Amino acid sequence: MDISIIGTGYVGLTTGIALAELGNKVVLVDVIPEKLETINSGKAPFYEPEVDDLLKKHVSAGNITTSLDGYRSVLDTEITFISVGTPSKEDGSMDDRYIRAASETIGKALKDKDEFHIVVMKSTVVPGTTLGAIREELERFSGKIAGSDVGIAMCPEFLREGAAMHDSMNPDRVIIGCIDDRTFDRLKELFLPLDSKILRTSPASAEMIKYASNSLLATKISFANEISRICERVGVDVYDIMEGVGMDFRISPQFLRAGVGFGGSCFPKDVSALMNIAKHLELDTPILDGVMLNNDIQPKHLVSIGEKMAGNLKGKKVAVLGLSFKPDTDDIRYTRSLPVIKQLLEKGARITATDPKAMENFRSEVPDIEYVADPDEALIGAEVVFLMTEWPIYGRIDWNSKSDLKVIIDGRRCVDPSSMKNIKYWSIGKPLP
Ligand code: NAD
Ligand code: UGA
Repeated sequence: MDISIIGTGYVGLTTGIALAELGNKVVLVDVIPEKLETINSGKAPFYEPEVDDLLKKHVSAGNITTSLDGYRSVLDTEITFISVGTPSKEDGSMDDRYIRAASETIGKALKDKDEFHIVVMKSTVVPGTTLGAIREELERFSGKIAGSDVGIAMCPEFLREGAAMHDSMNPDRVIIGCIDDRTFDRLKELFLPLDSKILRTSPASAEMIKYASNSLLATKISFANEISRICERVGVDVYDIMEGVGMDFRISPQFLRAGVGFGGSCFPKDVSALMNIAKHLELDTPILDGVMLNNDIQPKHLVSIGEKMAGNLKGKKVAVLGLSFKPDTDDIRYTRSLPVIKQLLEKGARITATDPKAMENFRSEVPDIEYVADPDEALIGAEVVFLMTEWPIYGRIDWNSKSDLKVIIDGRRCVDPSSMKNIKYWSIGKPLP
């Protein structure tokens, strides 16, 4: 099939590559020319494992092309995915300006197109958006009726950054929220080669499934973090506890890793958006409130333990290892390294930060600290270390060779302390030494 994708970020690009892998021709549309130039050279505009190799393959085979011209791209294809950003506004509600702009472009093209065309919403949008804002713009600019002249669907994306290609090619389920059979049948045909479970729902249900899924995953993490603070005081290790808890098939061990809290572009944004929906419906959200509250507590908790173990941090050299919100990405959106570094700065610590991929992105947010690419170099003269992202290279550091190092605060349980000598080590969820 010929497919256009409006918005070439994490979701648009990986969806495009996955669809090309399944034998389709894909045109990737964006408003940022430099992004498209990078893609044309066979490189992703962000770091994500596997993406560059597959992109190179499909760009050189002509299966993936790029365009700044959304109008033309819609005319030349039969299905258009919308995967532009849906950031939070100040009050936590979803900003719909990018999806409206994308729908306007598609609507204008559909006005000049006779053949049936399907528009698929891939961005995470609040329930009611596909049949609300999207339909409104499409119908207004095309003069056509969604559901009969134009197919309209909502297929939420469930990929994780750092594993985007794997998740796109092996989804646990494909949700197709639509209102007409023709659209469902065509999309089912498109997704069938993925060999995944397919669930047909209404667009609003598909939208809500996405928010409920992300909120439940965030809830599991915040729950693990709350339990971990109790475990520390009770004198047990939260990782042992969650191993036992996760053995219950009704619970599963997934997303019960206590740490410094969840980051990324989606959990914080989507939980906030769901809380905002409820607020407008005059509903209380004690669970979701607690999920976000817990997420703010964890970085403060980490720094306060750091102070307990290392004493006053004023003037001390502190190395912060890991700036991305998780390993295998250069994405720093809502990274928990930011509140930790801000607090350390407030306490007068001298910070050297390092990350294998995210240093440049972080530097643009926080320019005034020292950045060093090599973790061994970052540790020269450091008395205290905060481990913030579980990059595998941190597991290979020879800690005993760092002469000034006194305290390691491991926010992600990512190093083995068993052979450490004369170093005080503590990790989230362990009793204090
Ligand atoms: P992103 O910010 O990385 O990319 C969005 C892209 O859309 C940008 O390149 C931007 O230039 C482009 N764009 C904006 N307006 C445009 C327009 N009118 N025409 C063409 N291009 C336009 O966003 P993302 O991380 O890929 O997320 C996109 C959506 O998918 C969000 O709703 C997000 O919540 C959801 N989502 C993201 C992930 C993830 O892991 N990042 C996973 C699942 C769902
Ligand atoms: C998450 C979801 O896992 C995806 O299914 C979803 O598509 C995506 O959000 C989205 O909507 O954008 P992502 O944010 O890329 O994916 O990464 P995760 O692996 O979920 O990690 C999110 C954060 O939670 C990270 O900061 C990670 O360190 C933290 N986390 C995760 C924990 O602290 N403990 C865990 O057990 C798991």
